[in-house]
Amino acid sequence: MIRFDKEHNIFYLSGPHYSYIMFVNEGGYLQGAYYGGKVDEDAQYILRNAKRYNFPAGDLNYEYQCDCVANELASYGRLDFHEPTVIVKRNDGARMSRFKYVSHSISEELPDMTGLPHIRRGGQTLSILLQDDFSDTRVQLNYIVLDDCDALVRNLEIINSGTEDMMLHKAFSYCLDFDDANFKLLKLEGEWLTERNMEITDIGHGITKIHSLRGKSSHQTSPFMGLLRPDCTEEAGECFGIGLLYSGCYSMTAEVSSHSRVRVQGGISELEFCWKLAAGEKFITPQTVFVYGSSGIGSMSRSFADFYRGYVIHPKWVYAKRPVVNNHWSVTEFQFTEKELLKIIDESAKLGIDMFVLDDAWFGRRYDEHSSLGDWYVNETKLKGGLNTLIDRCKQNGMKFGIWFEPEAISEDSDLYRAHPEYAIRKAGVEPTRSRYQLVLDFTKPEVVDCIFRQIDKILSDYDISYLKWDMNRDLSELYTDSLPAERQGEILHRYMLGVYELLDRLTQKHPDVLFEGCASGGGRFDGGMLYYCPQIQASDTNDPWQRGKNQYGSSVCYPLSAVSCHVSDREGCCQNRHFPMKTRCAISSIGTLGYEFDTRALTEEERQEVISRNAQWDELYRLINRGDLYRLMNPFETDMMAFLVVDKAKQNGYAVVECGKYTPNKYKLSLKFSGLQEDTVYEICELGIKATGRTLHRIGVELPRLHDYESYELHLKAVQ
Ligand code: DGJ
Repeated sequence: MIRFDKEHNIFYLSGPHYSYIMFVNEGGYLQGAYYGGKVDEDAQYILRNAKRYNFPAGDLNYEYQCDCVANELASYGRLDFHEPTVIVKRNDGARMSRFKYVSHSISEELPDMTGLPHIRRGGQTLSILLQDDFSDTRVQLNYIVLDDCDALVRNLEIINSGTEDMMLHKAFSYCLDFDDANFKLLKLEGEWLTERNMEITDIGHGITKIHSLRGKSSHQTSPFMGLLRPDCTEEAGECFGIGLLYSGCYSMTAEVSSHSRVRVQGGISELEFCWKLAAGEKFITPQTVFVYGSSGIGSMSRSFADFYRGYVIHPKWVYAKRPVVNNHWSVTEFQFTEKELLKIIDESAKLGIDMFVLDDAWFGRRYDEHSSLGDWYVNETKLKGGLNTLIDRCKQNGMKFGIWFEPEAISEDSDLYRAHPEYAIRKAGVEPTRSRYQLVLDFTKPEVVDCIFRQIDKILSDYDISYLKWDMNRDLSELYTDSLPAERQGEILHRYMLGVYELLDRLTQKHPDVLFEGCASGGGRFDGGMLYYCPQIQASDTNDPWQRGKNQYGSSVCYPLSAVSCHVSDREGCCQNRHFPMKTRCAISSIGTLGYEFDTRALTEEERQEVISRNAQWDELYRLINRGDLYRLMNPFETDMMAFLVVDKAKQNGYAVVECGKYTPNKYKLSLKFSGLQEDTVYEICELGIKATGRTLHRIGVELPRLHDYESYELHLKAVQ
């Protein structure tokens, strides 16, 4: 809900549990007043309190004090010495700005997000137009309030309303000042194979920054920042989460000023960025979602999940049963024969698997990492019957067929590169860094996007393909494009991302029945932007159930479970070297979107039976995973155990998975306390032969027999009274 108090120039925004308040102050600036749990819309009180921040002595005019008031858009070159939100350089070289309120509108319309991922539907949108005192730069701040979700979506548009070109040197998506700095910072950090670990730290004075300069959101950091009140736990206390709907280079900062207040800002990374804004043009910044958690990190995560499911992920897929795939990559890597794949298909069908996915090395003359990226035609020497032999075999077995592409990559040893070396990102005279022996396509050029579109479109049109795995296996470096003049080289990274989004958009629009799964060497581009096109993203290249379980735990902080594609590998499967029982592999992968990546020939009879019954159960369980609420019960970043509970919205059914990372001798008792249940409802847990109320299960919990290393339990809860 959005309300404007005309008399006092106050904007009141609110969702189910939060209020967000700002006002136009005497100087004409848009000043933040409050963000947090619901408060009364009491104008006198709000204004009096907002003025409390004013510098206690000296000149009382706003210009003088702007370093210590809450700004909704931080200008540059004034007496606000925090980091600015936007930097615009005019033709005379001047960069100072002073943005003041001009007008606003409240509507049901969504703002223009052309070219970028965005929410598919909204509630009310408040757009506030500010004008720079010194130039023809205007900034429109958009706030979208969603009535059924504690998520507030923000972005801004920078408009050149003059007659001369200007250069944007920074164009963040949001700025928000909190009244104090009494927070801990929650980040999701990691590396290849160990993505999205929860890290909670103090925030000291100065600037804390989370960012990626890799051309993609990266394995190393996730475009997410949480601010937790010191008493905030998993299920109690206040917290705020900020997530970017962007997949390229980004920055998110938390700046604690000398006045011990914190300003958070973020958006497209300002390093390597500049953008020429011609007269009459506007620059649209990526959307950011602010989520308010009224009762712990868990409440914030559940709102993030509702937000992505309800507003970002395509409605066709969001709650649908996703195919349970078997991908041959970790079994064969590049070395496979058609005969072997046919065998895997037959065996997969017997296990109740829905789809076979043909991974890397089906195209061009690709036999290893050195060649053929960019040549998206079938290697008929390797696959003698073309794709149709495999597709037909899938059909005979009642299965579907999926395929792998790496659309953004090019090998120097490829027909495409030989014909168009200018399609790769590289600069004449500078030796490019090869990573996995490959280069990256210059998606700033429309003809490159077109060329890859035509090739992928042809494969999707010629064959009966139901799923596409979109991989991306390197970071960007030695940035240069001959499509732009010298002063516009700073546009490359964002234009590259716009090219990727355009290709995704065109392919998903043209092939709406194909499910796209994101991947970047596993979980190297897992973000809200990719979720707009890809309802699920590969969690990681590791299928180690403890390590990947931690990844799932961290990912669930700000993404829905169904977005996290989790494969079961065979005993020594993908990127792991320890042995887990099949039951644990399957249980952990069921807290996400279940899939497989195993050698069906290597399974014991017991493992086969486990997989068969798992797939049968999944026909029902996926509904709970896709629609339910997650409660994290044991934290693997703090203990040697992890536990998840998913409960349906009506709180009638639950599914819990507990995994032991390391057995501790002489700890004879393992008790599990449930959250998220209805206090007065009686639940039956058939595995334990227990019936108890939600209240008892929460306070006393249940006692489980000890688990040894890598063992797991699964519990099914059902309301019986
Ligand atoms: C990296 C991905 O994460 C793997 O699953 C696999 O698709 C390989 N690339 C193929 O090259």
